[in-house]
Amino acid sequence: MGTGSAPGKIILLGEHAVVFGETALAAALPFGVTVDAELRSSGGMRWSGDEVPRGDARVEASLALLARETGVAHAELKVSSALPVGGGLGSSAAFAVAVCRALRPDLVEAEVNRISLLSEQLFHGTPSGVDNAVCTSGGIIRFRRGEPAVVERVSSSRPLHIVIGLTGRSRQTSTNVLSLRQRVADEPSRWRPVVERLGALAEGGVDDLRRGALVSLGARMDEAHALLSSASLSSPELEQIVFAAKSAGALGAKLTGAGGGGAAIALSEEPEKVAHAISARGFDVRVVEL
Ligand code: MEV
Repeated sequence: MGTGSAPGKIILLGEHAVVFGETALAAALPFGVTVDAELRSSGGMRWSGDEVPRGDARVEASLALLARETGVAHAELKVSSALPVGGGLGSSAAFAVAVCRALRPDLVEAEVNRISLLSEQLFHGTPSGVDNAVCTSGGIIRFRRGEPAVVERVSSSRPLHIVIGLTGRSRQTSTNVLSLRQRVADEPSRWRPVVERLGALAEGGVDDLRRGALVSLGARMDEAHALLSSASLSSPELEQIVFAAKSAGALGAKLTGAGGGGAAIALSEEPEKVAHAISARGFDVRVVEL
């Protein structure tokens, strides 16, 4: 019997731009996915767990891939997850990392990261790799895609209080990424600078974190949200969450991850007040300290 776990994630800055090679700043959450695996001699890969959608062909394809890559063909998996599926908190990446670790506790981090990226490609087409990187490494990272990708741990000189507002609407990362790619292809002079600015905001955010400059970090989050919104990556629910958070005094608030649904995050020194404002509008919230 082996147990593997992996945290969920939020993207503080740089989502979407990271797909084009810009920097992203991502953080692991204090909750995620846990998998208990009992290895068997036959029967293939079976799994149970209420939080993983049954009948999703991508889950089955991912398990087949994880079996092939780990060399473990038969196992009974019990999956428990605190992450909403399609909720923008890295559920698919955390799932792959946790399954890898449960099946093969001996695998080194780089191998877990490599295999979970393959699984992410089944779920999301051509992901940047930021989600599986942060779900594998934990902590806060500065990430840049590439061969090899840059994954650098960032330590914040002050605790970060983040309020996560969940829209309850799942979204497809791949379609959102494609729609931005289309914009960049159709109108590069308008959208390339937006992508570059999002990357520059993430680079600046790394520096803010190191210096504990939370007001500046919050301002970058606000600007990033406005840019992502201008590319139609927001949604009415995300706008409501961001508005509620800012009205309650958040230093910064933005959609996180693919957008179009999923989750929004707010940075605040009074997280309970912000959480209350968001939940008063009917949204589920999580308050985390990073
Ligand atoms: C999704 O968490 C982050 C995106 O930038 C997609 C990716 O990086 O692959 C939207």
